[in-house]
Amino acid sequence: MQSNTTCSDEETYQVRKLEITDKNKGFMELLHDEFQKICDSVSNDEFQKRFEELKSYGDDHVIGVIEDVASSKIVATGSVFIEKKFVRNCGKVGHIEDVVVDSSARGLQLGKKVVGFLADHARLTGCYKVILDCSADNKAFYEKCGFKEKEVQMVKFKLYDIFSHNFVGLKITHVQLQISLIIILLNALIITRFVI
Ligand SMILES: CC(C)(COP(=O)(O)OP(=O)(O)OC[C@H]1O[C@@H](n2cnc3c(N)ncnc32)[C@H](O)[C@@H]1OP(=O)(O)O)[C@@H](O)C(=O)NCCC(=O)NCCS
Repeated sequence: MQSNTTCSDEETYQVRKLEITDKNKGFMELLHDEFQKICDSVSNDEFQKRFEELKSYGDDHVIGVIEDVASSKIVATGSVFIEKKFVRNCGKVGHIEDVVVDSSARGLQLGKKVVGFLADHARLTGCYKVILDCSADNKAFYEKCGFKEKEVQMVKFKLYDIFSHNFVGLKITHVQLQISLIIILLNALIITRFVI
């Protein structure tokens, strides 16, 4: 739906859709640096498969990126997917997710630009609203992007992710979590044998 745009006179930063070559421009590292607890390493094959899958959804699922043209590095990203409803006369809602700006490039209005790109995409595809979830710390940022607080987020994780989510503050990875669960199970088995 959107054409690629350049967001400064100096053409320093290019705002555009994700391209397959962005894996070699630090796209996964950007996600990993911010979401290390929930972003494991992704092989080239896995990346290509997921990229092709998302591409097949066309305008219904778009990942936006900002490239620092001088260094060919991806410094910001975010995604939007379009939910198609029956209510509101078969209305559409845009859902923004996974917004992140490289720690070295924060404060340069890049977060605002990537969110603007995603919100514009939702508007151009006919969405009557765009929504997102965020932490209390980021509320002021999204207000600067034109959003306002409304209603309450509810969530239900799979059992495995309940543990992983609750340990997020301790930065426990999935592998560490699996090892911990195995140790707990082994201990339980040993205790059971002694008791019996
Ligand atoms: C939140 C984040 C995306 C902001 O990106 P950024 O490029 O630094 O933000 P911008 O420079 O575009 O800021 C736009 C405005 O919001 C303000 N702002 C940015 N982060 C803010 C925060 N946490 N609290 C209050 N205001 C904030 C800026 O001061 C700026 O104000 P101005 O327009 O009056 O100058 C970035 O800090 C980040 O990647 N954080 C870690 C990942 C994360 O939390 N993502 C959000 C997931 S919901």
